[in-house]
Amino acid sequence: MLKNNLKKTLLSCVVSVFVLVPLSGASAQDVSSVIRGAKLYDKWYKVIDAPKPATTHKAWPSSNTKKKGDATQRCKACHGWDLRGKDGAYASGSYETGITGLRNFINADTAKIVGIMKDATHGFSGQMADRDFNDLALFVSKGQVDMAKYINADKSVNGDPVQGEAYYKTLCINCHGADGKLPKELPKPMGKIASGNPWETLHKILNGQPKESMPALRALPLQVSLDVLAYTITLPQK
Ligand code: HEC
Ligand code: HEC
Repeated sequence: MLKNNLKKTLLSCVVSVFVLVPLSGASAQDVSSVIRGAKLYDKWYKVIDAPKPATTHKAWPSSNTKKKGDATQRCKACHGWDLRGKDGAYASGSYETGITGLRNFINADTAKIVGIMKDATHGFSGQMADRDFNDLALFVSKGQVDMAKYINADKSVNGDPVQGEAYYKTLCINCHGADGKLPKELPKPMGKIASGNPWETLHKILNGQPKESMPALRALPLQVSLDVLAYTITLPQK
């Protein structure tokens, strides 16, 4: 019995070493910078209370006429929720741009990343403050989760929905309701959001929602977020 428990404990230690979210062992300050950077990556102008950009981003390719205006100004619009750009979920669909992902910038020098955001292609210089650029760069360099490892091509997730239900019913239910249809501002039911775009949903679970009180689960073992994600996919579609 004791031996079994010890085995279990050892096993879970070994397992958790492999599934820790980037930075989950880091200082609280780093983690909060990374989740802030991730929310900026999601919708920077919302996070910093800037007006919605009125124009289409100059790097947005004319081949894509499905999106325009502020939607094209979000990092995620060009580089993807999975940070794989043309090699990931945005290889096709309404956000197809042919633009590269950011996977080559894992552990890259943050000053270099800041420089890229201010280059002629991006032109973000003057639109955000130093702290914003630094948090964004920290997310790109230190905060990437290799989503392709956990979310399969058919959008199924390597998570345990039974365990996820327990997490959902303690962490999410107060705001999103048992059936995932709250708050009423939600664009569609959680089940529909998660099954349609598990990459976006994982990004939000790990980092929270820009300008909302939603918690970020990044400091917990990654498996918690994957289990929650696996459960949200099973919630009602309408
Ligand atoms: C409208 C599209 C667009 C948006 C929005 C955008 N980028 Fe880019 N990004 C590009 C293009 C184009 C390149 C050059 C690579 C290429 O040609 O595919 C690039 C390259 C990069 C690179 C270098 C990647 C490499 O492998 O060379 C980084 C890092 C980067 N972007 C970060 C960001 C960040 C952070 C944001 C949000 C603040 C952002 N980008 C927003 C279009 C965009
Ligand atoms: C304190 C309240 C709160 C908690 C707790 C919370 N959320 Fe949220 N969440 C929100 C709010 C508010 C929004 C934004 C709703 C809107 O305006 O679309 C949101 C948005 C989302 C979105 C993005 C919806 C979209 O496409 O716009 C997802 C996905 C999500 N939540 C999942 C979760 C999950 C999973 C949990 C539990 C781990 C959770 N949330 C916990 C408040 C919360």
